[in-house]
Amino acid sequence: MPSRHSTECITIDPSAPDAAIIRRAAGILVRGGLVAFPTETVYGLGANAFDAQAVRQIFAAKGRPANDPLIVHIRSIVDLPLLAAEIPPMVRELAAAFWPGPLTLLLPRRATLPEEVTSGLGSIAVRVPAHPVALALLEESGVPIAAPSANRFGHTSPTLARHVEDDLGGKVDMILDAGQTGLGVESTVLDPLQSPPVILRPGGTPREEIERVVGAVRLAGAGERPSASPGRLARHYAPDARLLLARSDDPGGIAREMEQLAADYGRRGEKVGILAADEVASRLDPELRGQAAVEPLGAWGDARAAAGRLFAALRDLEAAGAQVILAHRLPPGGLGDAINDRLERAAHDKHAGM
Ligand code: TXA
Ligand code: MG
Repeated sequence: MPSRHSTECITIDPSAPDAAIIRRAAGILVRGGLVAFPTETVYGLGANAFDAQAVRQIFAAKGRPANDPLIVHIRSIVDLPLLAAEIPPMVRELAAAFWPGPLTLLLPRRATLPEEVTSGLGSIAVRVPAHPVALALLEESGVPIAAPSANRFGHTSPTLARHVEDDLGGKVDMILDAGQTGLGVESTVLDPLQSPPVILRPGGTPREEIERVVGAVRLAGAGERPSASPGRLARHYAPDARLLLARSDDPGGIAREMEQLAADYGRRGEKVGILAADEVASRLDPELRGQAAVEPLGAWGDARAAAGRLFAALRDLEAAGAQVILAHRLPPGGLGDAINDRLERAAHDKHAGM
């Protein structure tokens, strides 16, 4: 674990980043330090991807196992040859359609890249982030930036600079605080080298949009290809509290289930938190609404609003002392798939009592 004395947290304009601040942050990266920065999905913990020592410090700061490879961020597809041994035509199509944006693509890696970045795998995961601060940092530093989500390993991803400070304060050199990240869930990770291409992690770029460009894709099953995407661990994205997912798929049924569960856990003296769409929350017994901490996810059909709230709401419930969090899936499709994936992984093996 690298010992670092202080973490500087600097406020930066998300749409017009101050050049002097970007120069200082880029200087830290070039000298082998760690900078947490905003992307359009979540905050990332960045290091120069070609500096093996700096990359090792990312793993140490997060407490992340060395067998879980990192995503490398670049300015544009023009920089791809630095990282990839070859660029399949499908990657060019996908990059043209979705970069900059929340789509991470797997490519055959170049041998010049430090082993640590890819955890010894033959493929490298790359994306171009759609955030002015991230792009300015890439431009100014002139190096590809390896950056996982800036949370301690296994915790929910950070959508606010405060989340980064809570998890990694004292372990990184600088945090660039540009306010809340726009999307709130991580990028979609796609392996275009398989036929059909495989979604290893549903995320900010919905499957339907990818299929409009390259035809049918397949969603990796839970536990599938663990060595190809070791990040697909059970109990990932987990809050510290236990998370229980309602089984119903309609607001009324979910509300009834939550009331039952809240009563059961309340009797055992456990503090209950609730994460619910407005249509669910409004159907809850007013007495329960008075007792439990209830975090609203937005309107039932508004997956975009839910994505923006999800991780912060889980952290807020945790901070409110919730020991058990009751939540529910959203309708599938679009960003709903990414949200349901995160909820299911956070709830993994936590269905006892349901
Ligand atoms: O939106 C995002 O993707 C954010 C921002 C900061 O860019 N980053 C992010 O990184 O979520 P991370 O490290 O938390 O998640 C990266 C995922 C992990 O599941 C990892 O296992 C997978 O990508 N991954 C990385 N390289 C891979 C590779 N070569 N093969 C398969 N999976 C890979
Ligand atoms: Mg992560």
